[in-house]
Amino acid sequence: MPTPLPPLSSIPPDIVSVEDYEVLAYERLEASVWAYLSGGAGDESTLRENRSAFERIRLSPRLFRDFEGANTRLHLAGRSYEHPIFLAPTASHHLFHPEGELATVLGAAAMQAAMVVSTQASTSLEDIARGSQTPLWFQLYIQQDREFTADLVRRAEVAGYEALVVTADAPLSGLRNREQRAGFRIPPGIEPVNLRGMNPTPPATKVFGSELMDSAPTWKDLAWLQARTKLPVFVKGILDPQDAIIALEQGVAGIIVSNHGGRTLDTLPAGIEALPRVAERIGKRIPIVLDGGIRRGTDVFKAIALGASAVMIGRPYLHGLAAAGAIGVAHVLRILRTELEVTMALTGTRSLAEITPASLWPEK
Ligand code: FNR
Ligand code: LAC
Repeated sequence: MPTPLPPLSSIPPDIVSVEDYEVLAYERLEASVWAYLSGGAGDESTLRENRSAFERIRLSPRLFRDFEGANTRLHLAGRSYEHPIFLAPTASHHLFHPEGELATVLGAAAMQAAMVVSTQASTSLEDIARGSQTPLWFQLYIQQDREFTADLVRRAEVAGYEALVVTADAPLSGLRNREQRAGFRIPPGIEPVNLRGMNPTPPATKVFGSELMDSAPTWKDLAWLQARTKLPVFVKGILDPQDAIIALEQGVAGIIVSNHGGRTLDTLPAGIEALPRVAERIGKRIPIVLDGGIRRGTDVFKAIALGASAVMIGRPYLHGLAAAGAIGVAHVLRILRTELEVTMALTGTRSLAEITPASLWPEK
């Protein structure tokens, strides 16, 4: 394995798609970090499905439409956003670039993209928020120590985070064999600093009967959390419409349809496959955000056509971050936004609201 290359300080002119960033990132990361970033659970069938499910969907072109005033704006949880491409919460950005989350938030701001900061960030949530020029949401893993969790939420509120994303699909880590084989460990000097001071859950050799599973959060803990915050709460990791209904009835602000980038349970369906079923049950009552496998502006468009208000990207911006720090993150977002606008122009849709199932080619 050759020594990783340093991050780039400018973007080579032949980098034109989000996928082009993958090789730049690969060349700049240790093999085990690459395995952590790219890998999925088990045989990675869900990871592959996250791409192929998008590829199966076709678009309908519409011609000679008027584009005066066309835009990609949206309203979500009480504020407006310039475009629907958000950064998904991902752990430990210092694994990918020496400036970590501070580079990411700078890149996000350059493209006016909302960033969801992970509980497991390697920069404190306050440092990320300080001077941030873009909307920030905070992703929460409900910790075994519920008082610590409540404190984390208070910190996020004080620091100006505008929404909470409670991740529900990973009470324990998925079995990511690629990462296990590569022997990935968080290197010394990088740590989930927001969790400093918390009593660590002892490492367990078993699943059932472990402290981790015995104290795994439930819908009741979500209700407990909702009662303690004024921030809009989104639940991340929903695929089954029944869970979407429970979340709706519990008064959440929105849901995130996601299979955690194929990283938790293998052979789950792609988010984009689950989305229409969830959207059918939820209607317009609360917004739906989708993530998993978004690599093209056409993917963003398809998600919106099938009922999402916005999407989040994970690995693509981490590839940009590893390749070139803030400018890499910004360029990945720029590529996707441009592709979305081109897609809208060629499907005759002037606003996100005009993107409907009719914008897709009928399956039968
Ligand atoms: C993640 N994801 C994630 N989700 C979460 O709620 N909290 C977290 O800390 C993390 N950490 C994390 C690390 C890495 C390296 C990856 C790749 C992903 C999941 C993430 O939010 C999102 O659901 C997926 O990444 C979306 O799929 P794509 O865009 O990577 O295909
Ligand atoms: C992951 C955990 C941090 O997917 O959510 O790596």
